[in-house]
Amino acid sequence: MARRYTGVAIVLHWTIAVAILFQMVGGKWMVSAGAAATGSVFTVFQIHKTVGLTILGLTLARIVWRLANPAPALPKGMSRFERSAANLTHIGFYAFLILVPLSGWAMASVSPTGVPTFFLLLERLPFAHLPLLSDAGLTERHTAEAWLKQVHETLSLAMGLLIVLHIAAALKHQFIARDNLIARMIISARSAPNSIAKASVGGIALSATLMFLIGGIAWGINQRTSYDASAAASLEETTATSGTWMIDHESSALGFSLTYTGNVVQGVIGSWTGDVIFDPNDLTSARAVITIDMTSVSLGDATLQTQATGGDGFDLANHATATYETDRFEQTDAGSFRADGTLTLRGVAVDAPLVFTFDEADGVATVAGSTTLNRLDFGIGAVGAVDEAWILHAVDVTFQLTATRQQ
Ligand code: HEM
Repeated sequence: MARRYTGVAIVLHWTIAVAILFQMVGGKWMVSAGAAATGSVFTVFQIHKTVGLTILGLTLARIVWRLANPAPALPKGMSRFERSAANLTHIGFYAFLILVPLSGWAMASVSPTGVPTFFLLLERLPFAHLPLLSDAGLTERHTAEAWLKQVHETLSLAMGLLIVLHIAAALKHQFIARDNLIARMIISARSAPNSIAKASVGGIALSATLMFLIGGIAWGINQRTSYDASAAASLEETTATSGTWMIDHESSALGFSLTYTGNVVQGVIGSWTGDVIFDPNDLTSARAVITIDMTSVSLGDATLQTQATGGDGFDLANHATATYETDRFEQTDAGSFRADGTLTLRGVAVDAPLVFTFDEADGVATVAGSTTLNRLDFGIGAVGAVDEAWILHAVDVTFQLTATRQQ
């Protein structure tokens, strides 16, 4: 039996060791308030997921290699207890190296937020989500996510303890037993004569990693929902003709602002149309229908953007359009009005009174108004962000329109 580990085993051991350390420290930081404050949560999560999945792929290679290249024998002077402890630790490591990333992958897969995993941060390389609870409701998915979060955290902690034990044992060998065991994992064994067989095993091991990563990405591309198609079929972002007014979209804006981790985030609605009949002297005939293409909403923050698209957000897969309708107007002051209308968003209709000013000169009207909504009324974040720890409930909607009188 060889007295040292092979070069491949050594490279895999230290690569995975560094990556695990990175994941442990990075994972803890990522879920802390410090990470949220940097505004880079989305990027950090994507890096964590990429490195974690790569560890899983490399672990498959390590197992293949290890099966064909048994570890060198343990030093002679070790007691029975020490031998069992060493063997158990090694088996434990393989179990953790599979279960920790697997639990993270499962957690990301069941999450009702639907945040995708972009391998290497590249949108064109979406990594598959495991087909778990695909038909379940948001509440079940949220419960499963919370449970898996606990599992992921606990397993990571247990693996951390095993690493401490492993390092302590290595140091004992080095400085107390003085058997220089660590050298076996630094200087590789001489290449054995049957190097062709070794090269084939190396090829199989490398393929295991590549098959896992490339397969996961291919599967992920296949899993992409019809969301892209629905976005392409979005409403046209052009000027819309209305009964009596033509809205000039170039000089009009519709948007909203929300408070995320204490910071105000502006949401821009890129595509919407308006069908408006409004004469300040004849409010009984006034009516307005605003149709909003929710797939055109952009939030500026990548984490919010992906969360907003999912089932716990705007649920774009099922509700790509929102509408505001009103035919009840009243004047509150000179040039100031109030409309009592209904906003249907995410399939939920909620009364949304809005106040606005209307100023007309030479057939061109300038209108500015706002309303405040409670996102929970529409079920937005009702599963994963029900409290206000990350996102406040109140969302301010504002609009500024310029329109030309048609008749
Ligand atoms: C060996 C690989 C991995 C290690 C050592 C690791 C370690 C960790 C640690 C220490 C945390 C912080 C736990 C806490 O204190 O709450 C964490 C969180 C997380 N990990 Fe991993 N992880 C690994 C792989 C993965 C993979 C492959 C994925 C997904 C594809 C993933 C997804 C996540 C997510 C989403 C969180 C945040 C959980 C939350 O929101 O609280 N991890 N990970």
